[in-house]
Amino acid sequence: MKQTVQTLQAKKESGEKIAMLTCYDYSTAKLMDAAGIDMLLVGDSLGNVILGYEDTISVTMEDMIHHSAAVARGAKNALVVTDMPFMSYQTSVYDAVVNAGRLMKEGRAGAVKLEGGSQVCDRIRAIVNASIPVVAHLGMTPQSVNTLGGFKVQAKTLDAARTLLADALAVQEAGAFAVVFECVPAKLAALISKKLRIPTIGIGAGAGCDGQVLVYQDMLGMFSDYTPKFVRRFADAGSLMHDAFTLYKEEIQAGNFPAAVHGFSISEELLEQLEQEAEV
Ligand code: KIV
Repeated sequence: MKQTVQTLQAKKESGEKIAMLTCYDYSTAKLMDAAGIDMLLVGDSLGNVILGYEDTISVTMEDMIHHSAAVARGAKNALVVTDMPFMSYQTSVYDAVVNAGRLMKEGRAGAVKLEGGSQVCDRIRAIVNASIPVVAHLGMTPQSVNTLGGFKVQAKTLDAARTLLADALAVQEAGAFAVVFECVPAKLAALISKKLRIPTIGIGAGAGCDGQVLVYQDMLGMFSDYTPKFVRRFADAGSLMHDAFTLYKEEIQAGNFPAAVHGFSISEELLEQLEQEAEV
């Protein structure tokens, strides 16, 4: 079934949990779509796991459009949500609408995600008014790593918890159709999830959220630079890939690959003639 803002809202209302994963390419999008994942997030985490940057700051609009369009080509039913990269919406409401529009027109996104609470509500309102659905992102917001002083759990004090609740209500009122909570204490995320009309999607925010998201390289054991505490490894694809790459090299060196079955034939006669000609 095709996932839309409305079907996701219905899941919130019926209590059916929402499954979201990051995705950055066509083949993976097809696999996730076939597995029934509800939302594919073309996260700016592609800066880390695809491009090898140490944070998401350097990711560009062109990077996001390129990967978003690839994912959109593979996603038949899942809703594709594409991250607005750093400085594509912070600069002005105008920039936010123009760049969200590019992610939708050129990147074929079904929705965009941006980081921040009350301070970005004017952007959320303007993007939604342009008929582009918005997911908000609160808690640990990686684009603000330099002001947050590192990647750490957020909203642990009463003041910070009050701010998180106020921000969540503010982005909902601004028109966001869902909100991601990253690295937020589980009971706080559960409490806020109950207070919101819109679905909450947690990453390091406990089981009380309406859905969950993980970076797929983390959940498949394909990324070992660092592994956050909230990650569960659902398969060890990293080891499988390592073993397959090693075997590939060994089989080439042993002369076992390619075998005749992997090649294309040519008539012996033709070859003999060519050899004779080459001798002349
Ligand atoms: O970019 C990303 O992968 C994200 C998730 C961590 C939610 O924003």
